Amino acid sequence: MHMGIGRVTELILQDGRRAARISCPAELIPAPGQYALASDDSRAPLPVSLSVTDSAPGGFIALPIPDHWMPGLEISLRGPLGNGFKLPASARKIALVASEVLPSRLRGLIRPALSQGAAVVFVSDSLVENLSDEVEAQPLSALNEIMEWADYAAFDAPREAVPGLRERLGKLNQASAWKEAEVFIQTPVPCGGIAECGVCAVVTKSGWKMACKDGPVFALGEL
Ligand code: FES
Repeated sequence: MHMGIGRVTELILQDGRRAARISCPAELIPAPGQYALASDDSRAPLPVSLSVTDSAPGGFIALPIPDHWMPGLEISLRGPLGNGFKLPASARKIALVASEVLPSRLRGLIRPALSQGAAVVFVSDSLVENLSDEVEAQPLSALNEIMEWADYAAFDAPREAVPGLRERLGKLNQASAWKEAEVFIQTPVPCGGIAECGVCAVVTKSGWKMACKDGPVFALGEL
């Protein structure tokens, strides 16, 4: 984990959400599934948790961002934090599944997945803009079929949606339900593990875990 200064260089719309290009030293750039905590001089009581949605020259693209962030704003960054995705090098059929409304946080996996020669399907009922021609888009109604096909799946889901996701996958046949899969859990991470506030607690098979430092990406079989 590092601390340093970054700068908002551009605001963009990504999948209908306001996102920012952020320039920063290389050691502060989160990998897909990791995050960084950002503070500005607005005296907001809590830092902003920035999820990386894609790499960008000299930094990364992140959301969600506060309404008052504008290009040129200097921010203090702490990161990268948490455990991100562990894309298996052997995976050749990869499903990226945004089970709720924020598909952007899985975008960071597209580039590494394609570069290892995998076929990629993005599964979401939300708008996913400017997908590479090499990536197929499918609705969530196709999930069962896609889980039969994929050899690795990455899910993005709010913490409260995880039981429903497990139940849905549990209804698939045994072979497809428990193949290699990870879940990026959406939950507030206000302290990033520093104050052990417990706000990010997640129930796992081995007890309570903190999404801020044990996650926010967990193996599906662990949940
Ligand atoms: S965010 Fe405070 S313990 Fe995880």
